[in-house]
Amino acid sequence: MNTVPQPTSPNPDAPAVEPSTDALGTTAAQARSAVLEKLIPKDPGRFRVLTGDRPTGRLHLGHYFGTLHNRVRLQNLGVDLFVIIADYQVLTDRDVADNLTGHVEELVLDYLAIGVDPARSTIFTHSAVPALNQLLLPFLSLVSVAELNRNPTVKDEIAHSRQSSVSGLMFTYPVHQAADILFCRANLVPVGQDQLPHLELTRTIARRFNDRYGAGGAVFPEPEALLSPAPLLLGTDGTKMSKSRGNAIGLAADADETARLIKGARTDCERHITFDPAGRPEVSSLLLLAALCQDRTPQQLADDIGSAGAAALKRTVTEAVNEYLAPVRARRSEYARDRAHLRRTLREGNERARAVADTTLAEVRAAMNSHY
Ligand code: TRP
Repeated sequence: MNTVPQPTSPNPDAPAVEPSTDALGTTAAQARSAVLEKLIPKDPGRFRVLTGDRPTGRLHLGHYFGTLHNRVRLQNLGVDLFVIIADYQVLTDRDVADNLTGHVEELVLDYLAIGVDPARSTIFTHSAVPALNQLLLPFLSLVSVAELNRNPTVKDEIAHSRQSSVSGLMFTYPVHQAADILFCRANLVPVGQDQLPHLELTRTIARRFNDRYGAGGAVFPEPEALLSPAPLLLGTDGTKMSKSRGNAIGLAADADETARLIKGARTDCERHITFDPAGRPEVSSLLLLAALCQDRTPQQLADDIGSAGAAALKRTVTEAVNEYLAPVRARRSEYARDRAHLRRTLREGNERARAVADTTLAEVRAAMNSHY
């Protein structure tokens, strides 16, 4: 049974965007995203978003301000939100996905805590949707090895992978992402600019499939990137906040742990606090974090703190984060006590995703003349 309405592509009459000259197409994507941001509140029902995470551990503040709160914003505007827990994708850069069930449950808790509403949105695990995965084979036939080789983000991931050789899974993962997006005919994908090459490949796959099998019609929409102005938060050691670097402040960390982590955060030896992201990245990232929590500008906060120095800055950041996250953390522990609800959320999300995927696969097989 498919009870989910299938949205159509975004408005084809929308103003065209100037061709971009930058390598990733960031300028064009930014301009188009600004147009999309105006269209979404006017007609949210026309949009379906797919986005997600790998279950490799709990989410942190970098995730939250980078992508998570944007998902909830879109959901609350009335957009149909699909959140994939990309469990197979964990295996792209490591041999074995450890504690998978635990990490999946932690992700669901994080989602529920920040306000993803399973009554409106679909949270599902990749491996639970066979028809999604079956799209991979025809999709692989639509891309060349040379195209996969050229993907700058895959190159980068390969460079940072902990494996000595590149697996076929890693090499082909932009194609899996295409299946993740196209199985539910999502037409909007919130991304950071490093993900633009993947989305471009998804669009190419959709277009080639339609050209080859669509008999004049479109089986798949060409999804668009929604570039969100994601603030780059640094971890406590001054490098990008990341689970694997041990420098992250977890959404689920308690108030004391948060205080301890921020107390230990790197700053610099200049006493007077100023907002200067290029010259003083660590201090500026702390200001930015507090500013995001308090809905103020980092400059205002810097002016307030001024010569009170790094200790005062850290007190301000700690209070801001703890106050901001208090309701999220309270909801999280409530949900954590109700494991049955957690499992039901995932089961229902998986059922819904399977129904959507079955419908799409049936159409794909019909289009490919392989519906026996
Ligand atoms: N690659 C994303 C991550 O590393 C998760 C993901 C899987 C995803 N499939 C996707 C994101 C499709 C956007 C679209 O966390």
